[in-house]
Amino acid sequence: ALVSLRQLLDHAAEHDYGVPAFNVNNLEQMRAIMQAADATDSPVIVQASAGARKYAGAPFLRHLIQAAVEEWPHIPVVVHQDHGTSPAVCQRSIQLGFSSVMMDGSLLEDGKTPAEYDYNVKVTKQTVEMAHACGVSVEGELGCLGSLETGEAGEEDGVGAEGKLSHEQLLTDPEEAAEFVKATNVDALAIACGTSHGAYKFTRPPTGDILAIDRIKEIHRRIPGTHLVMHGSSSVPQEWLKIINEFGGEIPETYGVPVEQIQEGIKHGVRKVNIDTDLRLASTGAIRRHLAENPSNFDPRKFFTAATTAMEDICRARYEAFGCAGMA
Ligand code: G3H
Ligand code: 13P
Ligand code: NA
Ligand code: ZN
Repeated sequence: ALVSLRQLLDHAAEHDYGVPAFNVNNLEQMRAIMQAADATDSPVIVQASAGARKYAGAPFLRHLIQAAVEEWPHIPVVVHQDHGTSPAVCQRSIQLGFSSVMMDGSLLEDGKTPAEYDYNVKVTKQTVEMAHACGVSVEGELGCLGSLETGEAGEEDGVGAEGKLSHEQLLTDPEEAAEFVKATNVDALAIACGTSHGAYKFTRPPTGDILAIDRIKEIHRRIPGTHLVMHGSSSVPQEWLKIINEFGGEIPETYGVPVEQIQEGIKHGVRKVNIDTDLRLASTGAIRRHLAENPSNFDPRKFFTAATTAMEDICRARYEAFGCAGMA
């Protein structure tokens, strides 16, 4: 059944777990996410970006999601819009039947330029008023995602700020967060705490606290009633990088956020954990391997099934690690 983000995250907070929010663009991702949720009895957050809408087309995306709710009626599903760049974009998703939207006012409408605090408050508040009137939840964002090491936002072509970011921008300020939540009435708040989007998060194997865990604790202490969201939470599985490169890929050495670090975050108020890159890596690795090992195959269902299985394994592992399993 379709549920709002607020409903699901209130339950998660009450029972101390986190929910992975997987990006969805196509049938295979959708099936992988739902099959893993069914197998582990987990509630689901699927999220669609502007890129997903462009790729699949709005009607297909809408029916893909509806099909999932129809096939697995016993699983609570939040259908969330990822990184909305304006209240108008969020409004269109509400009209499409989404139960949650992200108004990312940390950036201007171009999705690249860091925005002023007042602009962020204005567009987020406007979205909350509209969404809440329809029973739809809103995620806001304060701070800009990027590497604490280099100040780079991460992905060159993807969602996120362009150019260098200051240390101030890279870590959400707890006082400002409290003021922001009060002014906007958002249901969930994405914070900047040392993660970045895409596969290239860290150049060296992460050891110890690579997340600004103290900052997460401070924010949670200041706004305990607000569900925290961590973007850029892919773990970049080394085993999948190895398979990709073994079968013709060329991905340089890179590291993601260790699952244990995410679990630390979940202990301190992180309830929604955004993951896209890990499923991309798993499906790429599975398809490369399948085609290399089955050179005469030309039935796409075979390599898409390999991709679905690989993604499903990751989803299942995250549901279990985040304490989400058994909570549907
Ligand atoms: O935050 C970005 C997500 O990974 C979605 O990526 O805009 O390429 O669909 P996308
Ligand atoms: P990753 O690139 O780490 O998977 O993050 C995805 C994300 O934050 C989507 O909003
Ligand atoms: Na989001
Ligand atoms: Zn994101």
